[in-house]
Amino acid sequence: MKDIPNYCLKSLNTFKIDVNADRFISFDNLYEFLLFAKENKNIFKQKFIVTGEGSNLLFTKDFNGTVIHPETNIFGILKETDTHYIVQSEAGLKWDDFVDETLKLRAYGLENLSLIPGTVGASVVQNIGAYGVEVGDFVDKIKYICLEEFVIKTITGEDCGFSYRNSIFKNELKNKAIVVAVDFKLKKKPECNTNYADIQSYVADNVPVTPMFIRDVVIKIRNKKLPDPDIIGNAGSFFKNPVIDKLQFDDLLIKFSDLRYYDLHNGKYKIAAAWLIDVCGFKGFEHKGAAVHENQALVLINKLGQAKGQDIKELADIIQNKVQAKFGLILEPEVIIL
Ligand code: EPU
Repeated sequence: MKDIPNYCLKSLNTFKIDVNADRFISFDNLYEFLLFAKENKNIFKQKFIVTGEGSNLLFTKDFNGTVIHPETNIFGILKETDTHYIVQSEAGLKWDDFVDETLKLRAYGLENLSLIPGTVGASVVQNIGAYGVEVGDFVDKIKYICLEEFVIKTITGEDCGFSYRNSIFKNELKNKAIVVAVDFKLKKKPECNTNYADIQSYVADNVPVTPMFIRDVVIKIRNKKLPDPDIIGNAGSFFKNPVIDKLQFDDLLIKFSDLRYYDLHNGKYKIAAAWLIDVCGFKGFEHKGAAVHENQALVLINKLGQAKGQDIKELADIIQNKVQAKFGLILEPEVIIL
């Protein structure tokens, strides 16, 4: 375990913002940390955050609180039935390493979520999703430290309230839980999801579609469209795709016949925020050291690594205002702004 005052967070956020935290605590042994947490309960009565790789955070100033960073990363098959494996991973394991390992174990389902930055713990808090798949669909159980009783509790996937980029950990259990391990229910028989248009375009008649094939395709698509956070600071999609009802949708479609959207088949429509931003002419737009990515308008970047968090926040505000003025839609940040 590490417990360090005045800690630089530059390597702990993928925007590569140079800020400090008052205190930084990391741990690679859950029970050692649990004991420490029980004896230092005051930490959790003050400001704190739990971070994985910081791939969904924007620091606009120093963090006057404690950063908790799980580094536990053991994984393995917990259970096997005729049709499924239950694969458990501790929270600190890098998400994409975990996806890769599940495929090596011949445990299928997560392949569409390849190459998403972040850790296993963060994946369920955020309910990460890509190419027609969301992680919540595969969660069997989650173990977390309850910060009211300082014991480890278990919650089932059904009780996690998963929805688009949302879970119980962002709502009822916000600041009350630290995810420490996730059990995923993965299939023995592959059922490849190739519905997403980007993936479809790689599927040819004579190529067998396997989970490894999907993983390779997703990696290709992401590498082409999304900047590598190790090279250009970014946090993936900066905003969520707005979800609107039919009345508002019909009205928009009349005005913008080339609107990009997904029918959610529940009377709601998800509008492609990237398209809204793109149509406003923002691709490549720069504000101080921050910019809109040239290939994916939903991604804001720290172009030369010199931008301050506040510069990126200002760019986000400019985009939000323009999109609201043009389309009457409010873009909600997906990234947590601190
Ligand atoms: N589009 C544009 N301009 C652009 C980029 C995209 O018009 O600059 C259009 C595309 O042509 C497409 C639509 O917008 O019709 C949607 O684009 P894309 O398929 O790239 O997906 P997205 O909705 O922008 C979402 C997720 C991504 C995920 C992809 C693939 C959100 C907020 N983002 O992006 O997740 O990888 O789908 O499934 O839901 C993330 O959360 O950080 C993230 C990268």
